[in-house]
Amino acid sequence: MNRAPNPHAAKDEVLEEGLRPSRLTDYIGQDEVTGRLQVYLEAARRRHQALDHVLLYGPPGLGKTTLSQIIARELGAEIRVTSGPAIERQGDLAGLLTNLVAGQVLFIDEIHRLNRSVEELLYAAMEDFALDLVIDRGPAARSIRMPLPNFTLVGATTRAGLLTAPLLTRFGIQERLEFYKAADLARILERSARILGLRADGEALIEIARRSRGNPRIANRLLRRVGDYAVVSGDESLGLARARTALASLGVDDLGLDSLDRAYLTSLVEKFGGGPVGVETLAAALSEERDTLEEIVEPFLLQQGFIERTPRGRVATASSRAHLDSPSLRRTEPRTLFSR
Ligand SMILES: Nc1ncnc2c1ncn2[C@@H]1O[C@H](COP(=O)(O)OP(=O)(O)O)[C@@H](O)[C@H]1O
Ligand SMILES: [Mg+2]
Repeated sequence: MNRAPNPHAAKDEVLEEGLRPSRLTDYIGQDEVTGRLQVYLEAARRRHQALDHVLLYGPPGLGKTTLSQIIARELGAEIRVTSGPAIERQGDLAGLLTNLVAGQVLFIDEIHRLNRSVEELLYAAMEDFALDLVIDRGPAARSIRMPLPNFTLVGATTRAGLLTAPLLTRFGIQERLEFYKAADLARILERSARILGLRADGEALIEIARRSRGNPRIANRLLRRVGDYAVVSGDESLGLARARTALASLGVDDLGLDSLDRAYLTSLVEKFGGGPVGVETLAAALSEERDTLEEIVEPFLLQQGFIERTPRGRVATASSRAHLDSPSLRRTEPRTLFSR
């Protein structure tokens, strides 16, 4: 079961950029993480040294890219942005590293997807600020070491478990981003509504926040879609009733589960008798990528106690059966765009 193609996708990305906070003080929630970072940033500034390498991990949409940009900004440093899959050969990484200026931040998104040979080059770069290049081949092959400027590597990953031990240990700072509390998401939405010029009631924002699966990207997306409903209805103000109707039309249920989350639970309970069943089998039954299930769907279902991961596969808990039976689901059958 595929999500419907989203005609707003490209526009959403532009808007997402506009909603990114650029200072640590505007980065809402994740208080423990930001509290620690504040100290590390201040210490680096006072020592006039590059900040230690930082690994940010957690599900998509929780603010890893945003935080990497904030780190650079708070250091007063420029940031170079790349990603694991974009660095194909050692030469690509060597090019990036040798062009860095002292103090700069190199951001590698999806760092779990670096290939082995590139990753190995990164070890000395991170530890000794040196580039070990092998020149010539065969018996004439020898390695030369080139010094690099001191820089800060910020790596982001949705799958810290896939990082090798040598890479992991080279990050002096490792921070896991957690799902956001609804109150924090409501504050994020308040800020977003202001930026987007939406007139929204506090109650409406809390309702959207509550149903955003602890995820600011989802919260901002739902806010824009619910805002679309308000515009189409001719009255641009956004109250609780309108937010509820719009969320139901979007297929977002009372707990914030969307159609894919529910298809996952329904499949697990009805097709596979509640499990245990392997994630590959579930992915095939749902015609979804295994990665989508593991990175996007399952983390929240696990955190909410709807499923458990066992050595033999995924298992549905009593609360997922209760949720599938709950009357709130019947209220969330898609409605037409113009119903009130
Ligand atoms: N702590 C936060 N405060 C305010 N907005 C946030 C926060 N974290 C994320 N966002 C918003 O959520 C969106 C997704 O964040 P992003 O950093 O791209 O997530 P990730 O890189 O983890 O997938 C961004 O547009 C940003 O505006
Ligand atoms: Mg990102």
